[in-house]
Amino acid sequence: MQLSLKTVKDPAALRTGCLVLPVSEGAGLEGASALVDRACGLRLSRLIAAEHFSGAAGRSMVAHALPGLAAARVVLMGVGKPGTLDAAGARKALSSALGTIRSTGTTDAVVLTEGMAVKDRDGAWLLRQLGMLAETGGYRYSRTLSKPEPAPRLARLAVGLDTKPPRALSVALSEGGAIGRGMNLARELGNTPANICTPTHLAEQARALARRHTRLRCRVLDEKQMLALGMHSLLSVTAGTREPARLIVLEYRGGTKDERPYALVGKGITFDSGGISLKPGAGMDEMKFDMCGAASVLGTMQALAETAPAMNVVAVVAACENMPSGSATRPGDVVKSMAGITIEILNTDAEGRLILCDALTYVKRFKPRSIVDIATLTGACVVALGKHATGLFSNDDALAAELLAAGNEAHDRAWQMPVWDDYQEQLKSNFADVANIGGPNAGSVTAACFLSRFTTGEKWAHLDIAGTAWEQGAAKGATGRPVGLLLRYLLSKA
Ligand code: BES
Ligand code: MN
Ligand code: ZN
Repeated sequence: MQLSLKTVKDPAALRTGCLVLPVSEGAGLEGASALVDRACGLRLSRLIAAEHFSGAAGRSMVAHALPGLAAARVVLMGVGKPGTLDAAGARKALSSALGTIRSTGTTDAVVLTEGMAVKDRDGAWLLRQLGMLAETGGYRYSRTLSKPEPAPRLARLAVGLDTKPPRALSVALSEGGAIGRGMNLARELGNTPANICTPTHLAEQARALARRHTRLRCRVLDEKQMLALGMHSLLSVTAGTREPARLIVLEYRGGTKDERPYALVGKGITFDSGGISLKPGAGMDEMKFDMCGAASVLGTMQALAETAPAMNVVAVVAACENMPSGSATRPGDVVKSMAGITIEILNTDAEGRLILCDALTYVKRFKPRSIVDIATLTGACVVALGKHATGLFSNDDALAAELLAAGNEAHDRAWQMPVWDDYQEQLKSNFADVANIGGPNAGSVTAACFLSRFTTGEKWAHLDIAGTAWEQGAAKGATGRPVGLLLRYLLSKA
């Protein structure tokens, strides 16, 4: 999607496939919208009355071939009662308008956002959201469909302002676009079935990113190299499958050579059957989404490469499959992690923490300023927070606050949970330094506590995206979260 800003002096004379005008609830057409209405002989206000178009945020409608206008059609975008539009309402308004634009089959559109003041948010925020929604709204999964629906035709979207567009706004719009494309990459990887989206496939995707962007460098470790590093915890998870595991290291270099990087670590279980602690059958297909942490890391790295901030970021993705077989790890097995900490694997389905602990140990060699891991780690997190908030755990309150703020800003929100020492004793084992499960209570907290054992001395946060990484039911599919949160956080550090 080509996203741009332009100055629009006379919207009635604007030649476009689709002119998008805000309509307030109650107040109707104001400003530029009223100008356009007069140019077409008040046909818009008559249409609004005849159709009982409320102007509520999230409602939109289309009007074709209006005399007096150069635009082929007009989309009316409800923005709610004047002065009441909040962040959620603005997103609803934009998504609905974009859906209506796409349904018309137009290849280009111009949105006049002038009448869209959002409470507690600035114009840059609105354009970031617009850029993001323009990209994500056009995503369709098609890889394994023999008759995919045709891709939406909308290819160019401009924002029209009555003044010369300030640079901050064009930066915001393109940043939004980059976030949206990053989310789409994450969604595509998440949605791709596990027989295609293997650890090898993820590594190939990372390599392809590095080929496309000069600031990205990719290195992929195989099992032999992981063995040499002593990653027995990670390797215990991959023991039951024929798919080779991969440790993907993707570096973004936008800062000086010796500048310490920010680190992202992603869980890339390309399929989680549970292993010998086999999962129940119902809904097991959804465990192809167990690599969504890894996917969000790759999506964020792509968005980073596209926005090109002056900073260094290193991403480590631990990718493998968790399967049962004669060579699989057994409950009760004890393995030694790369950090030297021994782990009693009481449940082979608590495998995410087993691959992450070695990846977290590995990433320390980059001397990161902070480490954020992203993982579909626990069903318990979905019980605690549902599908709206990502679980946030951290050993550093300042880092936690920054991530919460980034989530609020991007409307990709997280909620902080405790990592108190009080919970650590649930991980006691009689046969190893630590057990990989902590019993039925506070499952997402004890999972975070397990990870915290491997990040002592580091500024570390863990994002449990088990509830937020994909939708279930009729809309089943990856969401691309938390690319928005992660990119906001990183850019706030640039
Ligand atoms: N990938 C799952 C977590 C998960 C489950 C995410 C359902 C989304 C939906 C993870 O590997 C897992 O199986 N966790 C176990 C941990 C338990 C054995 C301590 C869980 O949550 O049941
Ligand atoms: Mn599992
Ligand atoms: Zn898992």
